[in-house]
Amino acid sequence: MIQLLTVIGARPQIIKAAAFSRAVKNHSDVVSEHLLHTGQHYDANMSQVFFDELQIPKPTYQLHSGSGSHGTQTAKMIQDIEGHLLECKPHAVVVYGDTNSTLAAAVAASKLQIPIVHIEAGLRSFNKTMPEEINRILCDHVSSFMYVPTQQGMVNLEREGFNTAFEGRPTADQPRIRHSGDVMYDNALYFSQLAQSKIQIMDRLGLEPGSFILATLHRNQNTDDAKRLSQIFTMLLEASEQMQKKVVMPLHPRTRKMMPELLSPELNRQIKNSTQFQITEPVSFLEMIALERHCSIVCTDSGGVQKEAYFFKKPCIIFRPETEWVELVELQKAFICDADPVRFHNACKALKNNTSATWPSLYGDGQAAAYILKDLLQALS
Ligand code: UD1
Ligand code: UDP
Repeated sequence: MIQLLTVIGARPQIIKAAAFSRAVKNHSDVVSEHLLHTGQHYDANMSQVFFDELQIPKPTYQLHSGSGSHGTQTAKMIQDIEGHLLECKPHAVVVYGDTNSTLAAAVAASKLQIPIVHIEAGLRSFNKTMPEEINRILCDHVSSFMYVPTQQGMVNLEREGFNTAFEGRPTADQPRIRHSGDVMYDNALYFSQLAQSKIQIMDRLGLEPGSFILATLHRNQNTDDAKRLSQIFTMLLEASEQMQKKVVMPLHPRTRKMMPELLSPELNRQIKNSTQFQITEPVSFLEMIALERHCSIVCTDSGGVQKEAYFFKKPCIIFRPETEWVELVELQKAFICDADPVRFHNACKALKNNTSATWPSLYGDGQAAAYILKDLLQALS
């Protein structure tokens, strides 16, 4: 029996884990999976809600790393993960994406010479001011298995000197690299029917289909910079007025914390008093899918939400200077605006005139997790 330990901690990883855990469940005769939750995200609406809603197994190991500076948070995780790895000795450690939980698991497992399986490997923003860029590069370079969601990810790894055609026994020095598709596309397909059961969120927020902009914001580059944060909220307020659409914003706790500190009292008041601007607590994944399906435009700095906009055929404005999901921009389905009002204005114009109805398949066939598990079991058996 192959034993896997999957390390999760932040909201998007918990959601991603749903797809892989479903695949494991279908092969429970040959593989078992235990989950370790670092506790990086801990509010009920940032963590527990996803376990309740998405049939994710309860974590066997629950750490309480909580919030803190990068060093404090990551060090605590490394120490605690190491202890659990020594105790449970899995055949491999599965990690997702690029958070501090990913990095901590990669450091702990690689030093114990436990093979690392990196799902969502190969992505690059080429911007090392992002903590995530550092995390994902370091993790890729100690992984024995890399599952890459996009063709661009394969190209990125080749440019870094990885041999993507290597077929021998996978090690951290000679990893096995596969273009697998994206487990979040699996989830979007799998959960989109179930999301109908959460359609009451539209009534709760007083929304008509096609009548609102869905916005999310949480990147530290935006939340911790007064000028950028003010520009983004001002642009959203103006867009709402010009397009005569509501803005619905399920707010990440990081952003909620920073708004009173960094926005002027006047802008805070404007947001609060605007009948068109609706800030809510973070919503569940099924509610989020319901909103993504029925909104008219997505505005975000989230990696996951950019792609979900595409899955549900919605144009997307990106509040970042670049994206890892470059194919969305190349197809003109997403527009990079950074925090620049001129670029935002141009993007709004471009998407009004963009009538292209083609949404080619970019992220696999909805079976990425099953493919990854099959490939992994083949190599580990
Ligand atoms: C983290 C990831 C980011 C990912 C995001 C997903 C890193 C470096 N960043 O960013 O890549 O896109 O998760 O959402 O790992 N907080 C709460 N309650 C919670 C969690 C956080 O109040 O349950 C607040 C705390 O004030 C905390 C702040 O949010 O200091 C930031 O949390 P943290 O996990 O450090 O980073 P995120 O911004 O969430
Ligand atoms: N999400 C959610 N509720 C929310 C906001 C986002 O369920 O209120 C989901 C979203 O659908 C996506 C994931 O969280 O699947 C993205 O997480 P986030 O934006 O926090 O992180 P990123 O993808 O940027 O790392």
